[in-house]
Amino acid sequence: MKRYILLASLLTAISCSQAQTPLITDIGSRKTTSLNGTWQYIIDPYGTGFYDYRFQERKENDREAYWSTDEPANKTERKEHKFTDKYTLQVPGDWNSQAEKFLYYEGIVWYKKSFDFTKSNAANKLYLYFGAANYETDVYLNGKKLGKHKGGFTPFNFEIPDSVLKPTGNYLVVKVDNTRHKDEIPTVNTDWWNYGGITRDVMLVEMPQEYILDYSLNVKKTTPAKTKNIPVEGWVQLHGWENAKQVVVEIPELKIKKSFAVTGDKVPVQFDLPSVQWWSPETPKLYNVVINTGTDKIEDKIGFRTIEVIGKQILLNGKPLFMRGICIHEEVPQQGRRAYSKQDALQLLGWAKELGCNMVRLAHYPHSENMTRTADSLGILVWSEIPVYWTIDFSSADVFEKARTQLTEMITRDRNRASIIIWSVGNETPVNPVRTSFMHNLISAAKSLDSTRLVSAALEVNYQPGANKVDDPLGEFVDIVAFNEYLGWYGGLPDNCRTANWSVAYNKPFFISETGAEALYGFHGDSLTRWSEEFQEWYYREQVAMLKRMPDNFAGLSPWVLCDFRSPRRNNQIYQEGWNNKGLIDHEKGRKKKAFNVLKAYYEEMRVKH
Ligand code: GCU
Repeated sequence: MKRYILLASLLTAISCSQAQTPLITDIGSRKTTSLNGTWQYIIDPYGTGFYDYRFQERKENDREAYWSTDEPANKTERKEHKFTDKYTLQVPGDWNSQAEKFLYYEGIVWYKKSFDFTKSNAANKLYLYFGAANYETDVYLNGKKLGKHKGGFTPFNFEIPDSVLKPTGNYLVVKVDNTRHKDEIPTVNTDWWNYGGITRDVMLVEMPQEYILDYSLNVKKTTPAKTKNIPVEGWVQLHGWENAKQVVVEIPELKIKKSFAVTGDKVPVQFDLPSVQWWSPETPKLYNVVINTGTDKIEDKIGFRTIEVIGKQILLNGKPLFMRGICIHEEVPQQGRRAYSKQDALQLLGWAKELGCNMVRLAHYPHSENMTRTADSLGILVWSEIPVYWTIDFSSADVFEKARTQLTEMITRDRNRASIIIWSVGNETPVNPVRTSFMHNLISAAKSLDSTRLVSAALEVNYQPGANKVDDPLGEFVDIVAFNEYLGWYGGLPDNCRTANWSVAYNKPFFISETGAEALYGFHGDSLTRWSEEFQEWYYREQVAMLKRMPDNFAGLSPWVLCDFRSPRRNNQIYQEGWNNKGLIDHEKGRKKKAFNVLKAYYEEMRVKH
């Protein structure tokens, strides 16, 4: 199996991320030029711009390819593709919400952007950075292929060679294809809308020849929760290190300035913080950190905290943690579009705060960096997940590599976010040995990428007469046992909770990663009336009563879901109309349903109790 995975990993890495350069992190602190805004587009359901009529991939110099200039060489030349301002899309943004004709569209769209650009220093390197694009992205500049990326929710960047860049009239073409495939991540079946397009920021990034690629700074594991002389450890990854002699790490507010000799491209750093204000939901303290190599300098805002499991408890900064959570999809309900901006993050996390949350589960894929950085500053703990969702092809090493690539990109982008305490490797995956070994390997990969955080996955319940068992074999390998239960919605009525008997097969903290019921905002009836706000309210009342009877290793929950969200699987044309209405906030106007207050009251009780 190992040899097979290695071979497949090589093949997949080559196909998935052609010419992709190592991910540049802390992008907000780099010298960037935004390419956001209005882009021209061509919808290409048949892939005519990419394949010839024999459905063979077009050659790079094929003038009929949609990456080649759309300007005819003379009045006689036949050009059957032309971008115009008559057809434009906003970037960042999904295409589905931008025009009626795109709502259900799955397939290829070509984006084109022209720009002028001269480097501030001719010796600098230049990269093109995408926050995300769903799903398969091929990028061309001035007719040359820069690279390819697969995965709809993680960032990627390509180098722009000097030989390709022009001072004026650069012709950037991006092919985005959100067609679903069985052997991708996610696979063909999800309970969320398959928004397509360039969904997050696009920018040019100018870097010195030798630069700081990435870094990691964390409080040393098993550090007791003292506030003096806190050991911090980590590393600084350099891209090129011939001229860099020292790496200097500075935290001005703590009067820290430490130098570390450069003896290779990965420089280990270790030092003590004389004193520290721990980062926590109550005190989301962030420190300005400056890393300087003489050839490059970055700044970032990070918080220092510890997170660990000791026996049946989760400890944050050495104190027992109870997570008052909520699940969130990356969507702005009122506009039925993908969320991407800081403003969008403030709205969604603001509602979570109003609910009394100290934690959010960002479902089921990595959300934007705006979201995780806003969680850092608002003091909201984060569960971040890759879309290994339901029944992907667990027998394929190629698919494993795609999952590992997304995991690596997720962790690389956000490894310094204090708010993130849990990496999740998947949701509701079927219990069988092939799957369990696949998921176990993913958990090991996550731990080797980042040993400072907890790793989990949303498991399913083994419902037996008289006992709801959480005995999924994957429970052995996760740090906290998390499961989704819908007692009273998918099976029985809410009062089933009164006799529910839970048995968790692992002596670990456990967490309810989903529970919820649907209600159409404004539809009222008695509590037995399905789809009514009263039914949902009743559901939450019964759940809360049941949760109060849970054993002491119950570490919290993140109900499903903060807001109603679009789903192609929800087709009751009276109560759903393409929306999953399990939100506590409705999609039309962002109004709170009755159940919102039931959960809020419970969270206030838990806040006081813990
Ligand atoms: C599942 C799944 C969610 C889905 C939810 C539901 O558990 O994880 O993605 O939306 O249940 O059925 O509403």
